[in-house]
Amino acid sequence: MSKSEVTEVLLNEDKIYKPSEKVLKNARIKQWKAAHKKAEKDPIKFWEEAANELEWYNYWGQTFDDSNAPFFKWFLGGKCNIVHNALDRHMGTPVENKTAIIWESDDGDKRKISYKELNKMVCKMANGLKFLKVRKGDRVAIYLQNIPETAVAMLACAKIGAVHSVVYAGYSANALRERVDDQGAKVLITSDVGHRRGKIIDMKSLTDKAISGSRSIQHVIVVKQGDGPVSMKMNRDIFYDALVETQPSNCPTEKMDSEDPLFILYTSGTTSKPKGVVHVHGGYMVGINRTFQWVMDVKEDDVYWCTADPGWITGHSYIVYAPLMSGITTMMFEGVPDFPKPDRIWKMIEKYEVNILYTAPTLIRALMSYGDEWPSKYKMKSLRLLGSVGEPINPEAWRWYHKFVGKSKCPIMDTWWQTETGMFMIAPLPSMPLKAGSATLPFPGIQAEILDGNGKKVPVGKGGFLAIKTPWPSMLRTVFKNPDRYIKTYWTDSPGYYHTGDLATKDKDGYFWVQGRSDDVLSIAGHRIGSAEIESALVSHKAVAEAAVIGKPHPIKGESAKGFVILRKGIKGDEELIVELKKHIRNKLGPIAVTDEIEFVEKLPKTRSGKIMRRVIKAAELGQDLGDTSGLAD
Ligand code: PRX
Repeated sequence: MSKSEVTEVLLNEDKIYKPSEKVLKNARIKQWKAAHKKAEKDPIKFWEEAANELEWYNYWGQTFDDSNAPFFKWFLGGKCNIVHNALDRHMGTPVENKTAIIWESDDGDKRKISYKELNKMVCKMANGLKFLKVRKGDRVAIYLQNIPETAVAMLACAKIGAVHSVVYAGYSANALRERVDDQGAKVLITSDVGHRRGKIIDMKSLTDKAISGSRSIQHVIVVKQGDGPVSMKMNRDIFYDALVETQPSNCPTEKMDSEDPLFILYTSGTTSKPKGVVHVHGGYMVGINRTFQWVMDVKEDDVYWCTADPGWITGHSYIVYAPLMSGITTMMFEGVPDFPKPDRIWKMIEKYEVNILYTAPTLIRALMSYGDEWPSKYKMKSLRLLGSVGEPINPEAWRWYHKFVGKSKCPIMDTWWQTETGMFMIAPLPSMPLKAGSATLPFPGIQAEILDGNGKKVPVGKGGFLAIKTPWPSMLRTVFKNPDRYIKTYWTDSPGYYHTGDLATKDKDGYFWVQGRSDDVLSIAGHRIGSAEIESALVSHKAVAEAAVIGKPHPIKGESAKGFVILRKGIKGDEELIVELKKHIRNKLGPIAVTDEIEFVEKLPKTRSGKIMRRVIKAAELGQDLGDTSGLAD
């Protein structure tokens, strides 16, 4: 399906889902139009009010500074720490005895950690990091699965002012090495093994491979998850339990400047090198707190489950930080939704009485494919609200989710946002009318537009580039060590706007329909990966001379990757080589970069300057019009 066909399908969804009386009655923001209007009138004041809902050591002087645009600053002069708001301020209040984290392992074990216990774990870990000479501003890489210690490690870093950088555990040793080297991490936190679908993943070996020869890593902290022996390097490696055991359970929280970095999170772009997106303490905590409370409509005793992984931005903002700031219970799950059976998620919702479920279209489609009978067996009475993120949700999946999971009573919050935005940007409030497949309106205080290639607004119903007009507090501050790339990627293509890299349309009601990326970035099962990254992995194989990678529509994963490969002279392309190349990509990048198809070709379409025209390859592959081919060399 082409991008233009996607638009048509989505825009045909005229049916409006109005909120029920019950939803309206309980909604935090009942007058959504008034809330939007008020924020639109004075967005800075809107964010000031949001900031005032959190605790600060010292209030800020100036709320917003655009004197060095696009390096915007928020809450200047303010002193704060996100951990103060996520943990410290709950101590001595009734929240301290509430469950902060419910965790279920791949094989069904569970752990419940109260706020008080979590605070103690974080303090001990923070002291452990200090013992290993981690100081404010130092980078700490975290390569762990979805386990409570991942949240503990993040919070411990933030508490002492160190900058964490979580690398998704599904990335390969190579990808980990690249990220560790780029940030110059001093300490790496990993585990001996990980678990997935009943299988054991040797995380420690991957880690050792990734950091062999590293010039920055001084220590590796190993969280023990398995029973087997672990190879530990003397004077470098230390077990997490041994490190924290003797540490005091109190640790002062570092008073950070609002603009001090909180974390670096790598994300894929159009080149083969991932970008280190930098977020800061002040604005980030304000943005995610307000959006979480308003969109997810959190109530004091909510059990909330976001099925993402802490290795992605969704996990940072909406598994760890925002739910803890709200003092509710957040779930973490090590396993996968269809193991041991396709009712794992529905069963867990009943078992833990989950009120809010936040998941991804790829997972909904996968579970849909097992049949309606699986969710139908469960009443899931506790569910009140549903959420979706990561890619456009097709109306069919939206309706299935609404009917079979939400039992036609839970509104679906389709939230559009990015690693770079830190928080929800286009998303409904529960009191708003919904349309299946639309993320609805920009969040109050956010102005979004659809622009053409010349930066001009396009008429209603026409597709174009999605761009954001007004800066917002939780926006990325820069690309780590690469301010030029920050300017070039986000502030050049749509002058005067933040360029999102997405394509979208706006309908007559002002509702946004996001269609996907406009650049060479794929979204495979909601995971962002650049064509260039897979190509670079392919050409690093000795048999490959050149490669081009495109995304193709996929019924469950949203998109799948196909590689076109020119082999080196004298090498014959056969099935065996295809298998080997797929394995090679997996080794280089990790299982998230799975490439479904590889085709050997003699030539690739190129511009006169030698740039491969992926657009033309994609059009040919999908049987579409090739478009403007005047730039083709041959
Ligand atoms: O293309 C958009 C898609 O995911 C991209 C951002 O990916 P990432 O930085 O990995 O963050 C994902 C989680 C926030 C966007 O540029 N995307 C995200 N949410 C939606 C979406 N596309 C359509 N609808 C969404 N709700």
